[in-house]
Amino acid sequence: MTADTISLLLGHPDPTTLLTPELQAAVESLMSANAYRILQYGPEQGTQGLIAYLVDKLNREQGMAIAPGNVMIVAGSTHACDMIGRLYTKPGGVVIVEAPSYADSIHIFRDHHVELCSVPMDQDGMIVTELERLLARLDSESKKPDLLYTIPTFHNPTGITLSHERRLAIIQLAQRYGFLIVEDDVYRDLAFESGVPANFYALAHGQGVLSINSFSKTLAPGLRLGWLVGSESDIQRFVDCGTTQMGGGANPFTANIVAEYCRNGHWEPHVAGLQTLYKQRRDVVIEALSKYMPQGVRWTHPAGGFFIWLYLPDNVFAQDVKRLAHERKVLVAAGNGFYINPADGNHNLRLAFSFARPDDIEAGVHILGQVIRELQAGG
Ligand SMILES: Cc1ncc(COP(=O)(O)O)c(C=O)c1O
Repeated sequence: MTADTISLLLGHPDPTTLLTPELQAAVESLMSANAYRILQYGPEQGTQGLIAYLVDKLNREQGMAIAPGNVMIVAGSTHACDMIGRLYTKPGGVVIVEAPSYADSIHIFRDHHVELCSVPMDQDGMIVTELERLLARLDSESKKPDLLYTIPTFHNPTGITLSHERRLAIIQLAQRYGFLIVEDDVYRDLAFESGVPANFYALAHGQGVLSINSFSKTLAPGLRLGWLVGSESDIQRFVDCGTTQMGGGANPFTANIVAEYCRNGHWEPHVAGLQTLYKQRRDVVIEALSKYMPQGVRWTHPAGGFFIWLYLPDNVFAQDVKRLAHERKVLVAAGNGFYINPADGNHNLRLAFSFARPDDIEAGVHILGQVIRELQAGG
């Protein structure tokens, strides 16, 4: 990527938000003579100071009714997904995901040799009648899904949020068919308006749900830090597994830094600043799309997060748009990688509005509009 490339490709935070004076101060205050403590192996469940902070915050803000035994510190959502794949699926077992879903989660579940099934989405998220249909089919084949993996809030790649009613309906189906719900809620805190539906864990009163979250989008992904909420017996299962027993808790060094930073009251105002920043970016991208996209292109209206999802006309293929845009130094993700069946994403693009500066977003969408027009005209 050269300096004049415009990247609408990756779900990376704005680089200017990462190194704040407050985070730097937290690092410096821990790098004292006592730093050897945080450079040692850490407790298996994770740094207790950070767990205590999260329990208090999640109970206060999200009505989760959890105790320290319900939380484990993980090395990002990725680490949690992989552990869940390892401990809660079996080779050949069924994992249900949204269509589309996050490409790297699909990759992780494939690494665990499961059978992936997907459920289409509309503007309210996963379509429950389609899920029911899939469950009935699996049942008729005597297959019980191991788990359903969902990104319910400001979904990657579409930016869509699963409605409250559908969350309740999915919990009922999970109880009826006996599968685990895994919610990957890494964008939840990046809301641009109020009224975000409660998370699955709170709605299900902690029954049959594992809830994953992360500091990657709201602080810095290089910290490699997140958390996992589940029943005490589920959390114990992660604590007892081989990798945790062998290596200890996840990233004690960064977990202690983040605990210090959060306890000093810096995280909440930082997240509020990010909400304002990314809302402006969302507005820039929507305005640019309205200005530059030809007839026949549609897009989602995310109320939070990093992504917007485009629906291209039938005669315009995402891979062609991606290639031509790349030649003009604009990077975007074609829809194909987000589907179990890549052809389902032939006419979709994902734009990330988190990383590029507003002027570049506008310029990039302008170029994309030109490319799509040319392809539409058969050029
Ligand atoms: C839905 C989703 N889950 C997980 C991740 C990765 O999170 P982490 O950095 O915490 O591993 C991402 C990053 O793009 C994501 O979009």
